[in-house]
Amino acid sequence: MKREMIILKFGGSVITDKKKDIPTINQENLKRIGNILSKHSHQFIIVHGAGSFGHPIAKKFDLANGLNNNPKQKKAIEETRKQVLELNQILCNSLSKRNIKTKTIIPSKTMKTNGPKNIEKIPTEIFDEGLETGKIPVTFGDVTEDNLQGVCILSGDVIMEGLVKHYKPRMSIFVMDFPGVFDRYPTDKDSHIIPEVTLQTLKILKEKNTTKITTDVTGGLIGKIECAMEMAKHSETWITNLDHLDDFLNGKPRGSRVVS
Ligand SMILES: Nc1ncnc2c1ncn2[C@@H]1O[C@H](COP(=O)(O)OP(=O)(O)O)[C@@H](O)[C@H]1O
Ligand SMILES: [Mg+2]
Repeated sequence: MKREMIILKFGGSVITDKKKDIPTINQENLKRIGNILSKHSHQFIIVHGAGSFGHPIAKKFDLANGLNNNPKQKKAIEETRKQVLELNQILCNSLSKRNIKTKTIIPSKTMKTNGPKNIEKIPTEIFDEGLETGKIPVTFGDVTEDNLQGVCILSGDVIMEGLVKHYKPRMSIFVMDFPGVFDRYPTDKDSHIIPEVTLQTLKILKEKNTTKITTDVTGGLIGKIECAMEMAKHSETWITNLDHLDDFLNGKPRGSRVVS
């Protein structure tokens, strides 16, 4: 029988300590990911974020807006790429301890972009090679060569969208630190999880955005929901956290379902 495909994204908020300005791994969560995945036999593809690997330098040198006149940018691009690859290797090594075989696909070596939301072509043949040899293809947010602005930050969320459109997996899951999308900041008193995230929810969140929550972080969540809305046309799409991942893989989804 054909195994069900599930595409997972582990956010930087899960595998790193995102509040740190130097690269800091969340060891505990890496272990949990290995433990959970080793119990299941779905056909997985994994995308991961960068968190405290890459983000701080990328921000300092404004890599998201492409090349500028700063002569230090070149080194910053190299350093960012080095850090996100290092994070990838740490994750893959951690998985290999649970006998999970992976195949890394490095976006800065295999993908070009036309702006941050537009991947020229996803190299699905390389992902297929991994799948055919029983490995989990693993890719991640990276600094890509960009046809419009020189370089660009390609987020894991945008890669998710591209992969889901191609593979149309049974389920697509964003795993982040909080267990879903909340109607106000998750740690606020009286915040509630939104079980079904619709276009209307997105509109409300965008409006609230201007008041309390910093643009940067919520920009992350809004961008994620926008990608998820597109993905929902092709795959059952959820936003959740690591506490619920095992349940998901046992067929009991918990968190916020995104519908288009
Ligand atoms: N209403 C909300 N519900 C859930 N998370 C929120 C909300 N508003 C802001 N956030 C923030 O969005 C973050 C998730 O987005 P992001 O940082 O991009 O995650 P990731 O690292 O998984 O890509 C959460 O860590 C949280 O701080
Ligand atoms: Mg993010």
